[in-house]
Amino acid sequence: MAENTTSQAVSVHAQWSNRTVFILAATGSAVGLGNIWKFPYIAGENGGGTFVLVYLLCIALIGIPIMMAEIMLGRRGKQSPINTMKALAKQENRNPGWVWLGWMGVFAGFLILSYYSVIAGWAMSYVFRTAGGLFLGVTADGVNSIFTDLVSDPERLLAWHTVFMVMTMTVVARGVKNGIEKAVTYLMPLLFALLIVIVLYAMTTGHFLEGLKFLFTPGEIDGKGILIAMGHAFFTLSLGMGAIMVYGSYLSSQHSIAQASILIALADTVVALLAGLAIFPIVFANGLEPGAGPGLIFQTLPIAFGHMQGGTMVGVIFFTLLVFAAWTSAISLIEPAVAYLVENKGFDRVYSAVLIGFLTWFVGLGTVFSFNIWKDHTLTIPFLFENFSFFDTLDYLTANIMLPLGGLFIAIFAAWVMHEQSTKEEMATYPALYKTWRFLVRYITPVAVIVVFLKAIGAI
Ligand code: TRP
Repeated sequence: MAENTTSQAVSVHAQWSNRTVFILAATGSAVGLGNIWKFPYIAGENGGGTFVLVYLLCIALIGIPIMMAEIMLGRRGKQSPINTMKALAKQENRNPGWVWLGWMGVFAGFLILSYYSVIAGWAMSYVFRTAGGLFLGVTADGVNSIFTDLVSDPERLLAWHTVFMVMTMTVVARGVKNGIEKAVTYLMPLLFALLIVIVLYAMTTGHFLEGLKFLFTPGEIDGKGILIAMGHAFFTLSLGMGAIMVYGSYLSSQHSIAQASILIALADTVVALLAGLAIFPIVFANGLEPGAGPGLIFQTLPIAFGHMQGGTMVGVIFFTLLVFAAWTSAISLIEPAVAYLVENKGFDRVYSAVLIGFLTWFVGLGTVFSFNIWKDHTLTIPFLFENFSFFDTLDYLTANIMLPLGGLFIAIFAAWVMHEQSTKEEMATYPALYKTWRFLVRYITPVAVIVVFLKAIGAI
């Protein structure tokens, strides 16, 4: 990362050396556990086909326009989401209250990372289990009990959660740019290649078509399923909380925001669909339940690694890369909070990263325990969900409520509150794209989010 040499920057942070680095970092943020761990299991829980269709529609009509809006806001504001919103509201002569949008984002990122880190810990533990040959020739039942053993042991989950949080803090403390570039340039393509290897294995199970059908044949979906699909579009693209905004703030001004957004969304979606194609044939070939829940990839992929040629090696590399993908995402979840402390409190990066990291780690204990000692403590919120564990509740409230709400307000701010001249200045590279964006983010995106919310609570 080059030092900040351009004249237009007023930021205390460094800038990306070029557009490719920005795209890599944003892709690193987008591609993570959301694509490989979460997408398959929520698609499975919500019946497949229609869920996938709604998710894809949300990526195109809601996700991409909001991603463009976020990058635009970040690039204009050039600071953490909190200060960006404060500065932009002032620049545009609007209500200073918009700053709370930045606060909500910082808070959402903090909550998401608290459980994200626990799941990343599962992936780390699977690197070692796979390396030890634990899955060689294993049956579906065997894989299942290995998974259950792991999550019912709070100490092991805690240890891995701690390791992952320390890894995340270390990178954030050193400054986000060192390291992300390399991780994304070399490791993401490799992850992609390994997913294809697993998809090829899935083709040999004799149940590939069944998997394909499950993912792409429309079936039933209810309002809640639609909300989960929309929430996931936000989650998987890292939208609605300022992560992409912060990354956008390090982007210099000559680059096309639209092009970058489309590329990032495309890469992210392809990875998710490949993960689905890898997992569901294995599910059907082994008589497993598509709706098995958060353990789905840990209960299916080891079967592939246990039976394919060179499976141990493929498995070890795969889980390692999954950890890296999670790592580059986790960084973007606390960067907004850390950037804020650096800007406003004058703390140094190391201190800020450790402070926020420690708080996140602490909240993460709730997720660790929700798979074992707190398993039976559940929460019901009328109209939304019933008997949810701590982890389920946190995941639901952040991904399905906070992120879409954040995205809704980002769309409103970019399309209705800011003066058109300001947005044009940032995005005039391609006039036709600009017009399409403006139409989507003014009318389609906000209405779609509101309709989905109302449908989920049964109001329409
Ligand atoms: N998009 C990441 C994933 O799919 C998770 C993530 C990173 C995220 N930063 C975010 C989700 C910001 C919401 C908001 O794994």
